[in-house]
Amino acid sequence: MTESLASRLSQRHLLGTETLSAADALRILDTAEVFFDVSRRPVRKVPTLRGKTIVNVFFEASTRTRTSFEIAGKRLSADVVNFTSSGSSVSKGETLLDTVHNLEAMRPDVLVVRHSASGAPHYLSSRVRCGIVNAGDGTHEHPTQALLDAFTIRRAKGRIEGLTVTICGDVTHSRVARSNAWLLTALGARVRFAGPRTLMPSDTSSWPVEVFDRVEPALEGADVVMVLRIQRERLSGALLPSFREYSRTFGINERRLGLAAKDAIVMHPGPINRGVELDGAVADGPRSAVLDQVEAGVAVRMAVLYLLCAEPGQAAVS
Ligand code: CP
Repeated sequence: MTESLASRLSQRHLLGTETLSAADALRILDTAEVFFDVSRRPVRKVPTLRGKTIVNVFFEASTRTRTSFEIAGKRLSADVVNFTSSGSSVSKGETLLDTVHNLEAMRPDVLVVRHSASGAPHYLSSRVRCGIVNAGDGTHEHPTQALLDAFTIRRAKGRIEGLTVTICGDVTHSRVARSNAWLLTALGARVRFAGPRTLMPSDTSSWPVEVFDRVEPALEGADVVMVLRIQRERLSGALLPSFREYSRTFGINERRLGLAAKDAIVMHPGPINRGVELDGAVADGPRSAVLDQVEAGVAVRMAVLYLLCAEPGQAAVS
């Protein structure tokens, strides 16, 4: 069977969801459905991106994002190369731009970039000829995480429009919260943020969300409970009295989950601090969609790579 889906987005890069149209987001989600099925076949490979080269350029640690971009590229028959800053000439003082210009000289089609500096992928996108995919930049955006979250929600609930999604935890440091707020509201969900005031940006007035400084009212009737990681590596000063105190007041456990809708699902982008922001019994329980998110990540990243670098007219699956 030939799946003929439009093989282009309206933009050359995927930098964030704030600037992603609902039409492009839906095109990615619909294309990902095709690749989700491919990933469940006995032979999980299609020739779609044969001859294309994808370089994963990671200046920050990653398990899920880097691995799933690599698997996604390989399932599409692209050549995939992983660059990590540790062990590279970055340690000799080579700049981000010089590093990327040198990688670009090897003629990749797409660079998948993770960097600790907010805005790094945007900065690069105006200085290179190939496509850039933001795989997480500082505390700014993580668009493919939000897309895989939307895909997971749509598969679990059959829709996104009209759902209430509560995102709780360390919002200040969370690129996942930002990308999900823009994407899910564009797709018609109501988004709530809940977290201690010390972990909530001082001005949220420009965001399309309702903000709570207690978790219980934010959970009431929620269809989706998205738990954020306490980002130990980005916490500075006395933003939290202790992890134990955080768990006591904001941690998601069976009792608090009882406030959400009876069929609510629980999500977490990973890695989980078990017993801090999320109780292990909930993370491993029947309402957890955590590993569904990880599976969705491969399909969604296949869709993004396909839509950004397939030749015009190239079918997703033939
Ligand atoms: N969710 C996520 O970005 O996980 P990694 O940091 O392991 O890629």
